[in-house]
Amino acid sequence: ARLVVLVSGAGTNLQALLDACQDPSYGAQVVAVGADRPGIEGLARAERAGVPTFVRRVADAPDRAAWDRDVTDVVAACEPDLVVSAGFMKLAGPAFLARFAGRYVNTHPALLPSFPGMHGAADALAYGVKVTGATLFLVDDGVDTGAIIAQRAVEVADGDDVESLHERIKTVERAMLVDVVGRMARDGWTVHDRRVTIP
Ligand code: GRF
Repeated sequence: ARLVVLVSGAGTNLQALLDACQDPSYGAQVVAVGADRPGIEGLARAERAGVPTFVRRVADAPDRAAWDRDVTDVVAACEPDLVVSAGFMKLAGPAFLARFAGRYVNTHPALLPSFPGMHGAADALAYGVKVTGATLFLVDDGVDTGAIIAQRAVEVADGDDVESLHERIKTVERAMLVDVVGRMARDGWTVHDRRVTIP
């Protein structure tokens, strides 16, 4: 299966996928990595792995709709079976969803539907929950509202700060991403009434 991975930052989730794809039996290859900003470690990781990259900044487009269409076209040209948002900090626009809904997955550092949005780990810590985690879901037109593919739990420790909690979540998140994307790539998936099944 052909993967396009979208990043905005450190790219440790991307790195986990790149590492997994080294093994042919994993069943997937990262054919391109896209970003909404230059100069990030995620792009450097792709370059070190010899994977083509592209950058599309919203600020360089006439407007958000034009950016959405441009990103849609550049991703579509890669002919992906699956598009993975791995810390990509932009919401998918209507053109992108029209093309990739149902095969655009995102990873979130909380147990959705709790703590959606940009600060999943911080919001869970501030609320005082004792268990949080990571969620992989199919992106729809809401914010972190799409059909859930997989979730893993992480306990909040006494003395956690946002950084320590998020790092512990990210360790689990990367393992889940590699496991589940690989299964999707090899075995496919179905969605009925928000219930996602990987056979
Ligand atoms: C992940 O926890 C992701 O869920 C969140 O941002 C983090 C990205 O980490 N949205 P990385 O760039 O993959 O290291």
